[in-house]
Amino acid sequence: MAGFIGLVVLVGVAGFLSAVRCNPGCKGTDGHPGEAGSPGRDGLSGMKGEKGAPAVSVDGPGDQPVLLRLKGDRGSPGVVGPMGPKGFRGHVGASGLPGEPGPLGQHGRNIGAGQSVSQQEAQFSSFSVIRNDSTYPPFKKISFQSVVVNNPGDFNMTGGTFVCRIPGVYYFTFHSVAKVSMCLSLVADSADDKLTFCDYNSNRIYEHMLSGGAVLKLAANNKVWLESFQDEQSASDKQDIREKYIIFNGFLLFSNPE
Ligand SMILES: *[C@@H]1O[C@H](CO)[C@@H](O)[C@H](O)[C@H]1NC(C)=O
Ligand SMILES: *[C@@H]1O[C@H](CO)[C@@H](O)[C@H](O)[C@H]1NC(C)=O
Repeated sequence: MAGFIGLVVLVGVAGFLSAVRCNPGCKGTDGHPGEAGSPGRDGLSGMKGEKGAPAVSVDGPGDQPVLLRLKGDRGSPGVVGPMGPKGFRGHVGASGLPGEPGPLGQHGRNIGAGQSVSQQEAQFSSFSVIRNDSTYPPFKKISFQSVVVNNPGDFNMTGGTFVCRIPGVYYFTFHSVAKVSMCLSLVADSADDKLTFCDYNSNRIYEHMLSGGAVLKLAANNKVWLESFQDEQSASDKQDIREKYIIFNGFLLFSNPE
């Protein structure tokens, strides 16, 4: 708009100058040409042109290199294909670093046997003990006065009891000699029933012998002993003080395999 006003002013000035007339005889020197003006600013961008029509191939796909140069837009990704076959097994890797040490174990159990006891001694057990008391044996556990064998010492003479040290199978046997009736039982604290044996001596003149025995399976600390018991003995039997002998024997047949 300012440029337009400037143009009007210039036209006005040109009109005023043309009104000053020069006489035919007057002459002057030419004026100098004015300085060239600075170039004007760039014009505005032109309008975008119309999109051209797509190329149409009339006969077939046409020249391959030409088609390759006419690269289209990227398509959308396709669907996922089926899973491929399993690959080959890889090589075994290098050994790993050693692990941390484990926790401390529990304390061991003392099984008693020391270095001084040989294997043969540890698996050996036998005894043979004698009661030579001439009084009639009381109706309770029998005690013994003399030892024939007690090796290594599993028969407790004080208590009159065999105490099992080696778990296993044992044979026990006893014999008694008396001129009166005698009843004895082999007792094991591991067994429910007592093994009872009786001999009835009616003539009371000749010596009678009573025997009994059994094979017993024992665990450690099981106890075995002999008892006298009341059956059909008379009162005079129990007052008899003539010679009497009872021998009690036992030994390990074999220890438990475990
Ligand atoms: C029984 O045996 C012991 C030991 O051998 C002996 O000291 C004792 O005199 C005996 N008793 C009888 C009544 O024979
Ligand atoms: C033998 O038996 C007695 C009486 O039961 C007991 O006091 C003693 O400790 C036993 N001895 C041994 C070596 O076991």
